[in-house]
Amino acid sequence: MSQEQELREKLVRMGALLYNRQLAHGSAGNLSVRLDDGSILITPTNSSLGFLEPERISKIRPDGALIAGDPPSKEYFFHLAVYEERPAARAIVHLHSTYSVAVSCLCHEETEDVLPPLTAYHVMRVGKLPLVRYFRPGDRALAKAVREASKDHRAIMLANHGPIVSGATIEEAVYAYEELEETAKLYFIIGDRKTSPLKAEQIAEINRTFSN
Ligand code: 13P
Repeated sequence: MSQEQELREKLVRMGALLYNRQLAHGSAGNLSVRLDDGSILITPTNSSLGFLEPERISKIRPDGALIAGDPPSKEYFFHLAVYEERPAARAIVHLHSTYSVAVSCLCHEETEDVLPPLTAYHVMRVGKLPLVRYFRPGDRALAKAVREASKDHRAIMLANHGPIVSGATIEEAVYAYEELEETAKLYFIIGDRKTSPLKAEQIAEINRTFSN
C-alpha cells in the first residue's frame, strides 16, 4: 500500500478514535499529516472526525492548492504555518475537547504557559503551552500568530478555541493531545486546592532524559 493510502486510512482510524473518546464532537476539529513529497493530507472542512472517508480526505500542496479530495479544513493555513516552522513535524491535531477549551476560555495573566507542569507525562509530551490571542476560526491572521508561537513549541493554545499539537507521527501528535486534555481535566478537578507542580530541576531532568 502507498504511503498516501496508508496515511489516509490512519487519519480515518484516528478521527474515529478521537470522536469515540469524545475528544471531538459535531464537525469540530481537524487533523493533518505531511507526506514525504511535502504535500499534506488534511480533513475536509465541515467533516465529522467520527465519519471520515479515506478518498474524500483533502490533499493540498504546501502552497495550499487543492490536489485531490474534498475542500480542505478552513484552518489549513495554520497547519501549513506549523509545518513550515517545524520541519520535523509530520502530523497536526487540532480539537475542541472540553477541558482544553475550558482552559482556553480562562482569563490568563501569564500567557507563556497556560497549564502547570502537574505530571511528568505532561512535561514530556506537551511541554510549555503558550496562549495565542483570539482570532475567529478561519482568520488568516491566525496563521501568523500560530507560526510565531509554533517556533519553539509543539503545542499551543488558541484563546476561546482550543489546542494545536504537532508531532513526528500522527500517533505522537494524538498521544500528546490526549495528555494535554488529561492535564486540563486534572487542573479543573484540583480546582482551588493547593497543588505541587514539578519543580524546575525535575522538569530539566525529564527533558534531559526523554527526547519527546
Ligand atoms: P473545519 O471543519 O473547517 O476543519 O473547521 C473546524 C474547526 O475546528 C475550526 O477550528
